[in-house]
This record gives sequence, C-alpha cells and structure tokens, in this order.
Amino acid sequence: MSFIKRILVTGGAGFLGSHLCERLLERGHDLICLDNFFTSQKSNVAHLLDRPNFELIRHDVTLPILLEVDEIYNLACPAAPGHYQYNPIKTMKTSVIGAINVLGMAKRCRAKVLQASTSEVYGDPDVHPQVESYRGVVNPIGPRACYDEGKRAAETLFMDYHRSHGINIRIVRIFNTYGPRMHPFDGRVISNFIRQALEGEDITLFGDGAQTRSFCYRDELVEGMIRMMNGTDDFVGPVNLGNPEEFTIRQLAQLVIELTGSTSKLVKRPLPEDDPTQRRPDITLARKHLGWQPAVPLREGLAKTIAWFRAVSIADYRPPTPNY
Ligand SMILES: NC(=O)c1ccc[n+]([C@@H]2O[C@H](COP(=O)([O-])OP(=O)(O)OC[C@H]3O[C@@H](n4cnc5c(N)ncnc54)[C@H](O)[C@@H]3O)[C@@H](O)[C@H]2O)c1
Repeated sequence: MSFIKRILVTGGAGFLGSHLCERLLERGHDLICLDNFFTSQKSNVAHLLDRPNFELIRHDVTLPILLEVDEIYNLACPAAPGHYQYNPIKTMKTSVIGAINVLGMAKRCRAKVLQASTSEVYGDPDVHPQVESYRGVVNPIGPRACYDEGKRAAETLFMDYHRSHGINIRIVRIFNTYGPRMHPFDGRVISNFIRQALEGEDITLFGDGAQTRSFCYRDELVEGMIRMMNGTDDFVGPVNLGNPEEFTIRQLAQLVIELTGSTSKLVKRPLPEDDPTQRRPDITLARKHLGWQPAVPLREGLAKTIAWFRAVSIADYRPPTPNY
C-alpha cells in the first residue's frame, strides 16, 4: 500500500490497542487513538505522543463523535472478567452503543471497520476446537453475559450494517492473548500468575487447574488483525485469531514458576461460574484467507512478558476496579 490512511483505533491505549497503534504508525498512517482509560493508562501510549501522525483523544465510545477516517479498528471494551463485571451494564453499552457509533461513522465516512470480537461468543463450548460456524453455548443471564452477549450483539450489528447498508466490515474473534503491557491487575490468568510468582505469593489455581486454554502472543495477534483489515472485501469473517496449541492452567502455572525462578506454591480456589473448561481455536480460515498462523512458542512469549513485568513498577498501575 503506497497511500497514507486516516485510521481510528478505539480502545487504542489498551494492551492490544497500543501495540496496534505502534504497528500502524510504523507503516506511516495518520492515527487517532480514542480511549476513556477505563482499563488502561496514558503510559501505554506516552511514547507515541510526540509523533506528528499520532493523536490521542480521551472519549467514551458510547458517546457519538464526528471524525473523518478511512478505517476503524473497534477495540474499546473492558476485556478481563474483573473489569467487565465491575459495571456490567456499562460493559453491554460499550459493546452495543459503541458498535452503533463506529458503524454510523463508517457509514458516514464510507470507512472500513473491524470489530474486535472474542472467543467468548462460543461460551462454554461443546464443540472442540471451535470453528467459526459453531454458534456457541452462552448463558444469557449469567455474570459473564454482559461481555459475551454484548460482543455477540455487536457482531449482529456489524453483519446487519453490512447487509443493510453495504458497510465494509471485518470481524475477528480473538482468543486469549498475552504479552507486554497486559494490565498487571487485570485478573487474567497470565498476568495473575506472573505477578504472583514475581511477588512470591501463592499462585491461585481456579478449580483443579485441568481446564485448558490456548495463548497467543500479542504481536502475532495484532498482525492477524491488520491482515484481516487489509484482506479481500469478500472475506468479512468472523475469523478466529488465536494460538491452537492447548495448555492446562496447571501447566501454565508450572511454566511461569520455572521461568521466574519463583518459590510460589499452587493453591486451589473454586472455579468461577460459567468458566469454560476448554478453549482452542480452529484457525483453518485464518490460514487460508490471511496466510496467518502463530509461531511464537508459549515459553518464548512468556519469557518476554515476564521481562516486561520485571521492568515496570507494578506500583504505578492502579487496579482499575475493586474486582480484579
Ligand atoms: N486480550 C485478549 O485476550 C482478548 C481476547 C478476546 C477479545 N479481546 C478484545 O480486544 C479488545 C482489546 O482488549 P485488550 O486485551 O487490549 O483489553 P484492554 O482492557 O487493555 O483494552 C481495552 C481498551 O478499551 C478502553 N475502553 C473501555 N471502555 C471504553 C469506552 N466505553 N470508551 C472508550 N474506551 C474504552 C479501555 O480503557 C482500554 O484501553 C477488546 O475489545 C477485547 O474484548 C481481547
């Protein structure tokens, strides 16, 4: 691509959003990062502020805003259970009203718009690994529903704006992703384990630790998103983006202990309600349409993530909510 695009990244100061901003700036694009800093802090993008092609706007995606853009990556949404359950009604509004606002902007500007959806749309799946055609088992009235159903409704809105108004959309379903700049207090399993190991605290295993997850390194996930945005218009998704290699939570904990050299002990806690027991993406579509597949082994990605946790001062990060 030889021309410069005006690109909006909502949730651009977050864990994934800030890295996406960096990657798009490297390509010379004119970037607007929009964020209300609910689950992030300015330090994630502070190093970008003096770039002439970077602009930061503090704004809530549930409120309309008039911007002139060519592309929109819609990432604004609290993503970790402790964050999205803090104010579940706001979480649902962020997904649904946020989607309506970015889709309205895409319609007005004739922009292309990508939705950061999630593997949570599959709920606690009874098909394994999960393919995009699988419709999921989601509890619509449980404590995770504000996020899961909010993201499902956002997908519906994206497809309806596409069918009704011809909006050029993309939907990616992101599976667990980790890496530098994860919020140390987000309550996600990798950040929890690393923080606990580095501080010599007990490592909390929910359930017996036999539940599985797959973990994708941040840089590879962001590459997948960019490829999807720049892919052909006849492939709008949804497409799974994630690492198909599966680990038990116990294996993950043991690897974190090994890589940090920690003396932490594993302790068991009850499994939270509706916590899925298995999660692994089928990435056949991403391979075929985007030529994308993750290559960074968990051990290597974890080592980089641990190095980042060691380098930052955890005291500079406040827990965004009391729920982590
Ligand atoms: N990281 C993962 O494993 C993962 C997995 C599945 C889906 N996702 C999706 O990717 C996106 C980014 O996730 P992340 O891991 O970077 O999380 P994150 O919490 O670091 O980033 C989300 C960003 O959105 C901002 N935000 C939240 N509500 C907002 C609002 N109303 N208006 C404006 N900004 C708002 C937050 O302040 C934060 O900067 C989210 O939409 C999430 O649902 C992430």
